Amino acid sequence: MEKTAVITGVSKGLGKALAEKFQSEGFRVIGISRNRPEISLYRFIQADLTDENRLLSVAEELEKERIDLLINNAGVGIYESWKDMKMEDLRKVFELNFFSAVFLTKLLLPKLIESEGCIINVSSVAGKLYVPYMGGYCATKYALNAFSDSLRAELKEDGVHVLNLIVGRINTGFSIRAFGSKKPPETPFGSSPDKFAEAVFKAYKQKKREIIFPGWYRYFIFISGLFPSLYDRLSYKKWNQS
Ligand SMILES: NC(=O)c1ccc[n+]([C@@H]2O[C@H](COP(=O)([O-])OP(=O)(O)OC[C@H]3O[C@@H](n4cnc5c(N)ncnc54)[C@H](OP(=O)(O)O)[C@@H]3O)[C@@H](O)[C@H]2O)c1
Repeated sequence: MEKTAVITGVSKGLGKALAEKFQSEGFRVIGISRNRPEISLYRFIQADLTDENRLLSVAEELEKERIDLLINNAGVGIYESWKDMKMEDLRKVFELNFFSAVFLTKLLLPKLIESEGCIINVSSVAGKLYVPYMGGYCATKYALNAFSDSLRAELKEDGVHVLNLIVGRINTGFSIRAFGSKKPPETPFGSSPDKFAEAVFKAYKQKKREIIFPGWYRYFIFISGLFPSLYDRLSYKKWNQS
């Protein structure tokens, strides 16, 4: 039987690459974003995920669909010091990166339990390690990690699997679209969205609990966890703090 995946943030970047990959593997993909993607999907739903009433109506629109997989991918960055961060901007980032993922998951949970499906949350290396001037974004991804790990434990008995993605830099133009005054310039040194989508599909098939992509970040996270003061020193140096 064909499986159906709901993927958020499909108009560009990682969501678009995930939609293409899962579709090429035989999934019927239902994509959600504010703008229509250039690729054709089984179904596209135009929605602002930060609008709770809209999410309630999206859940109604999906009432007749079987759902085997939910990928909470949509997200936005914020590059700002805590001193200058506008609470309004921080709230917007939390609304999308954390609350919309939690609410959509809650709304679709009965269907995912029925299909004994899978939830994939797109988190970040910035959810494992703090980054100065990205603290607001880090906070949303630390929260998302806590959501993924506790949800996985709670849904084990229901046969629903949760895969958490710890993502490093990938070339999507993500930082250009972020909030804040401290956006770094885009560099070509990130990985490719297509390689990311390949790795996610493999991890989904293997029922992994978490993957770090690109893989080399795992050494960075491990060593920084073992030697936090070394990580402090490196990050102070990088961000010109004494
Ligand atoms: N790229 C990286 O280096 C990187 C690294 C670590 C983690 N991540 C995470 O990966 C995920 C995807 O990032 P990306 O690089 O693909 O970003 P992106 O290229 O900026 O794409 C973001 C997607 O989210 C959608 N979106 C944004 N606001 C929305 C809203 N209010 N309602 C509905 N959809 C919304 C956008 O579509 P519309 O504008 O059409 O709504 C777009 O499709 C995010 O969760 C991000 O935090 C990315």
